[in-house]
Amino acid sequence: MPCHNEELKQKIKTLKARKNAVLLVHNYQRPEIQDVADHLGDSLGLSINATKTDADVIVFCGVDFMAESAKILNPSKIVVHPNAAAVCPMAAMVSAEDVRELLSTHPKAEAVAYVNTSADVKAEVDICCTSANAVKVVASLAAPEVIFVPDVNLGLYVKRFVSDKEFHFSSGYCHVHQGIMRSELEILKKAHPDAEILVHPECIPEVIDFANFVFSTEGMARHVKTSEASEFIVGTEKELCYRLENENPGKIFHRVDSALCPAMKQITLEDVLHSLESLTPRIELDHGIIEKAKRPLQRMIDLA
Ligand code: 13P
Ligand code: SF4
Repeated sequence: MPCHNEELKQKIKTLKARKNAVLLVHNYQRPEIQDVADHLGDSLGLSINATKTDADVIVFCGVDFMAESAKILNPSKIVVHPNAAAVCPMAAMVSAEDVRELLSTHPKAEAVAYVNTSADVKAEVDICCTSANAVKVVASLAAPEVIFVPDVNLGLYVKRFVSDKEFHFSSGYCHVHQGIMRSELEILKKAHPDAEILVHPECIPEVIDFANFVFSTEGMARHVKTSEASEFIVGTEKELCYRLENENPGKIFHRVDSALCPAMKQITLEDVLHSLESLTPRIELDHGIIEKAKRPLQRMIDLA
């Protein structure tokens, strides 16, 4: 329904200006949501943008933990998450209690939470990381041991670069990246032998081993602009390819067909318009949790 979509996009634009709102949009959102973004990016870029905005209202089009991070970093602003069903299953794979238990078993360790966690978990850890800065974050720690939650694949990827530390993991994973198989990439590579293979660090180790490059979604967007290659096999959620195609006319991007995140597809243009009209659903967090969770997030941002 392109016409209907254009009408909705125009209404969103008008209302956004009237409410002094900013639209932060993750790279895995539906194409029509990407089209209305003020900032389109990965979880690190969007967190940084959230600290810099002078808008009164942040409309966060991504999954729950991303909108929560925006609220933690901007407690005095209204943060709306247009569809409360956009929930990342990985973030539910570790609890604050799990982190407390790991810390009491490994008292010499510092705890790192991937941003794909609840605010309660962030409140228990020393520092956060995203897929873009995980190696830098872990390497910056003084402790000889690291508790890394919840993504084991990302943790194992970081461990390749920080071999002097002992790692303790919980047991989380992203079902979208866990489902990308080396055999699928092999088939794509056979069909497109000149294509570079880019994968996300949430992929399983044997997929990481097969790739030419491992990047966060924003890292992929940066890389393809300057790469000599004209074809790419994109080993992450496939909607990123919409942005890559828009920004790189003439370059070809091969999606992994199975790589679709249903949580990221919950938000529609109608939801965004409704959120701007009603300023709901809002992210509301306990003040004490915000205070505690802000420290590790800010520590990560300060490292950038
Ligand atoms: P990025 O930080 O690379 O955008 O990834 C976020 C995410 O949810 C990956 O599945
Ligand atoms: Fe969560 Fe994976 Fe979806 Fe990212 S792609 S939001 S980690 S389920």
